[in-house]
Amino acid sequence: MNKLKIDDVDVNGKRVLVRVDFNVPMNEKGDITDETRIRAALPSIRFLMERGAKVILASHLGRPKGEVNARYSLTPVGQKLSELLNVPVAMAKDCVGEEVRQQAHRLKDGEVLLLENLRFHAAEEANDPEFARGLAALAELFVNDAFGTAHRAHASTAGVAAYIPAVAGFLMSREVEIMGQALKSPQRPFVAIIGGAKVSDKIDVIRSLLDKVNTLIIGGGMANTFLKAQNYSVGKSLCETEKVGLARELLELAQRNTVTLLLPQDVVVAKEFRNEAAFRVVSVSDIAQDDQALDIGPASVAAFAEAVAGAGTVIWNGPMGVFEMPNFAGGTRGVAQAVAQCSGVTIIGGGDSVAAVENMGLASSMTHISTGGGASLEFLEGKVLPGVQVLQDKSNMNTGE
Ligand code: 3PG
Repeated sequence: MNKLKIDDVDVNGKRVLVRVDFNVPMNEKGDITDETRIRAALPSIRFLMERGAKVILASHLGRPKGEVNARYSLTPVGQKLSELLNVPVAMAKDCVGEEVRQQAHRLKDGEVLLLENLRFHAAEEANDPEFARGLAALAELFVNDAFGTAHRAHASTAGVAAYIPAVAGFLMSREVEIMGQALKSPQRPFVAIIGGAKVSDKIDVIRSLLDKVNTLIIGGGMANTFLKAQNYSVGKSLCETEKVGLARELLELAQRNTVTLLLPQDVVVAKEFRNEAAFRVVSVSDIAQDDQALDIGPASVAAFAEAVAGAGTVIWNGPMGVFEMPNFAGGTRGVAQAVAQCSGVTIIGGGDSVAAVENMGLASSMTHISTGGGASLEFLEGKVLPGVQVLQDKSNMNTGE
């Protein structure tokens, strides 16, 4: 990465504002159900503590729409963080203002303060310059380690960098380096697996990958739209009729670019959208009028696994079926196993495919599991993420010293 990192600058004794992505899932009782994103930020936080920085952490949680809402308080995250770091983590009542500024200025070297949810202020998402200035007033250096939010041009991810020197944290730089390398000079064959419900969410990523990959595998609900474009009848399956023309265009683009495009050859169908519904495996040419395709079938899994087995690089985003229902999780599980067995570089992005890999205990077999859902998708589309763009280039060493 051509951006400065925290280990390129002197942080000793400095107040450092670290944007993290602690937007973690919580259950109705307010317990954190997956702490991956908190753990992923620990290397940068520990590094700063050990180097004698005063660490000020900022994050959003959920979408409270610019209003204070106790349900979205970061207090439980602060408690979890304190447990993981094994040190006290002070909690601020807000993220800007005089009281918070004083609290930040009282911090001693190595201490950690967690600010309250940035999105309690509408000014955060509006990237309001005054709000960004208020955040900058807390610190002397800005570290962006929130890859998951790097696709948002908000005050805490982009705006703040106008006022204090801005560098990347370890998580941010790892994400950008691994995925950037895979896109720029992948080990070949380069195979991308794209799944999920809707084609409309993934058009740009498919288009961009068709310029880069050797094989593109399409599964999940969105495959139905492509099957329809090939004149298969998809019955009552999820299908975006208005996107069939576009799917046809993408199939043609694949052909022009000599990309092998693999679609399911068989699917698991049911008459109702529920786990308990009776199901059977049929060829894609035998989907009945009242069938709903809810997963890819075993022949498709085998064909996809064969393409993945010899890959030098695999990128996977999106499940192969309705994997939250155990009877329709087989396709996603099969693909996860195939990717885990691949000896090439394997990168998993997007909440659902990451969850599938983690639930199956396969995370450690992958080269990289991205902490970004939308961010990893936009990165794979080839977009420059605002939260990365604002960081200082290596050639422009202004560390504020
Ligand atoms: C995410 O979970 O993808 C990030 O934290 C960004 O959240 P947002 O989609 O609410 O901006």
